[in-house]
Amino acid sequence: LAFATRSKSVATMAASQEFTGNLIREVEKLFDASLKLTVPDGTSVDTEVAASLPGKPGDYQCNNAMGLWSVIKGKGTQFRGPPAVGQAISKNLPASEMVETCSVAGPGFVNLVLSSKWMAKSIEKMLIDGIDTWAPTLPVKRAVVDFSSPNIAKEMHVGHLRSTIIGDTLARMLEYSKVEVLRRNHVGDWGTQFGMLIEYLFEKFPDTESVTETAIGDLQTFYKQSKLKFDLDDDFKEKAQKAVVRLQGGDPIYRKAWAKICEISRTEFAKVYQRLKVELEEKGESFYNPYIANVIGELDSKGLIEESEGARVIFLEGFNIPLMVVKSDGGFNYASTDLTALWYRLNEEKAEWIVYVTDVGQQQHFNMFFKAARKAGWLPDSDKTYPRVDHVGFGLVLGDDGKRFRTRSSDVVRLVDLLDEAKTRSKTALIERGKDKEWTPEELDQTAEAVGYGAVKYADLKNNRLTNYTFNFDQMLSDKGNTAVYLLYAHARICSIIRKSGKNIDELKKTEKLALDHPEERALGLHLLRFAETVEEACSNLLPNVLCHYLYDLSERYTSFYSIHQVIGSPEEASRLLLCEATAVVMRKCFHLLGITPVYKI
Ligand code: ARG
Repeated sequence: LAFATRSKSVATMAASQEFTGNLIREVEKLFDASLKLTVPDGTSVDTEVAASLPGKPGDYQCNNAMGLWSVIKGKGTQFRGPPAVGQAISKNLPASEMVETCSVAGPGFVNLVLSSKWMAKSIEKMLIDGIDTWAPTLPVKRAVVDFSSPNIAKEMHVGHLRSTIIGDTLARMLEYSKVEVLRRNHVGDWGTQFGMLIEYLFEKFPDTESVTETAIGDLQTFYKQSKLKFDLDDDFKEKAQKAVVRLQGGDPIYRKAWAKICEISRTEFAKVYQRLKVELEEKGESFYNPYIANVIGELDSKGLIEESEGARVIFLEGFNIPLMVVKSDGGFNYASTDLTALWYRLNEEKAEWIVYVTDVGQQQHFNMFFKAARKAGWLPDSDKTYPRVDHVGFGLVLGDDGKRFRTRSSDVVRLVDLLDEAKTRSKTALIERGKDKEWTPEELDQTAEAVGYGAVKYADLKNNRLTNYTFNFDQMLSDKGNTAVYLLYAHARICSIIRKSGKNIDELKKTEKLALDHPEERALGLHLLRFAETVEEACSNLLPNVLCHYLYDLSERYTSFYSIHQVIGSPEEASRLLLCEATAVVMRKCFHLLGITPVYKI
C-alpha cells in the first residue's frame, strides 16, 4: 500500500483494541510490535502483512520470516532457520482481543486468525456509531480533483463522460477519507478558436446582447460553421485573428461575446451534471491566464526555458520533444496554462495532492509538465511523496463494432441523449415487470433514474480504467452478472427481508448481539470489516474498480450466507438481521462512493 505510514513506536499494545476501521492496518500494528521484539536491535524491516487467499488457513498472514532470516543468518543469531523466526514472530505478538490464534506454516508464514467475537463486536459498534467511523485517514488535508473539463463550443464526448464519472468517484472516496476536495472543472474556455467564434457570432447575430441559446441552437454546429468560414474566407480569418488580440487585451465587447458563448456551453454541460448528480466548480483555462506570464517568468529565472525554432521551450530528460510553453507568436498554450494552474493549486490553494482525470492519450502531456514542475522544484523528486500529482488516465469507450463509440447516423454522441436512453430503457424494463401498477409514478421515475444512470456509471467504473470498454445498454442494464442493476436489486432484497421481519432494526442494534458462528456468517463479517482498507487502497491507487470488485464480492458473500441460512423465524433471527443490516449499510456506502443512488424496493 502506498500509504503505509507504519508507526514503529508501538511500545505497549493495549489489551483491548479499539477498531479504527482499517483492518489490515490494525493487524500490521500487531506485527510491527512483534517484529520489534523479534528483530535484533538496529535491523530495520518493513512489516509485510497481506490478507490470506481464500481457502488458506488464517485471515491475514505476515510474510517477514524468510526475508528476515536472509538478513540475520550467519550473524550469530539464535534462530535456526525461517520457521524458527516465524515462531518467534508468532510468540511475540502482543496479546490482543482481535486475535483468535496465530500459527506458523511451511517455511515460516505466520497465519493470524481473527477472533469472531471481536469481529462481531466491531460490526455491532459500526451499526451504532455509523459507517463514517470506518473512514480511512489519508496523509493529506486538501486535494484537487481536476475532472470532466470539456471544451467550450466543442463536443462534450464520451471521454468527458468517463472523466466525469471517474473523477466524481475519486472525489467522493477522498471526501469520505476526510480530505477536503476541490472539485475542479478545467474547462477549455480560452484559446485562438474564440476569435473566430466571436466574429461569427457578431456576423450572425448583430444584436449580440439578446442572443439566446435557442437562437444559436447547437453550439457544435455553430463551431463547425465558423471554422468553415475561417478556413475559406481570408477576410474573416483576419478579423478572427484580430478578435483574439482584442479579447485577450480585455476589450469589453469581446469579453462579453466570449462570456455569452461560454454561458451557452455551460448550460449544455449542466444538463449532464444534473442527471449524474455530479457537483464541480468551474475554474476554466481563462482563470489562470492573468498568472501565466509570472509563472513562465519564474521558470525562466530558474534557467529552465530555452529558445527553439522561435518558440520557448523546456527540454526534459527522457523525452524526445521539448515542452513548449510559449508559442512562436508569443501566445500561451495548453501546457503554459497547466503549469500555471499547477502553480496556483500548490501555492494559492495549498493542495497537497492534485489528480487529473483524462484519457490516456494525454499521458505524455502530463508526464512532461509534471517533470518540468519537478525540475522547477515545485514538487519533490519522488512521485509518491507529497505534494503529489497524478494523472489518472483511462481508455476508450468502444461501440459493439469494436471501434470508437458513436451513435447511429450522427457522428457525435450527445451525452444527454445517451443518459436519457439509459433511463428510458430501465423504465421500460420496470414497466414490463408490472412496477407501474405497484408504484407511484414518482417512485417509478426515481427508480428508473437510479438504475439507468447507475448502470452507465457502474459499467464504466467496474473495469480497470486503463482498459477500453464496450458501451452496451443490454449488458449494463442486465439484472444478471456484475452490473449495477444486479447490485441495486441485491441491496433492495436485503432491505425487504429486514422490512418483512417486522422488527425495529434500531431497537435490535441496541439490545441484540451479533454472532458470527457459522462459516458463511464469518466470511461475510470479515468482508464487511475489510471495507475501509479497500477504500484506502482504491484511493491511494486511484482505482475505482477496486471498490466495485469489493461490492460485487460482498453481494456474493451475502448470497452464500442467505442461501444456506434462514433469517426470519430462525433462532438466530436477531443476529442475522443485524448482519443483513450491516451488509446493507456497507453496500449503500459503496453506492454512495460510486455515485449511485440506492433503491430500497424492487
Ligand atoms: N479540456 C481538456 C480536454 O477536453 C481536458 C483538460 C484536463 N485538465 C487539465 N488540467 N489539462 O481534453
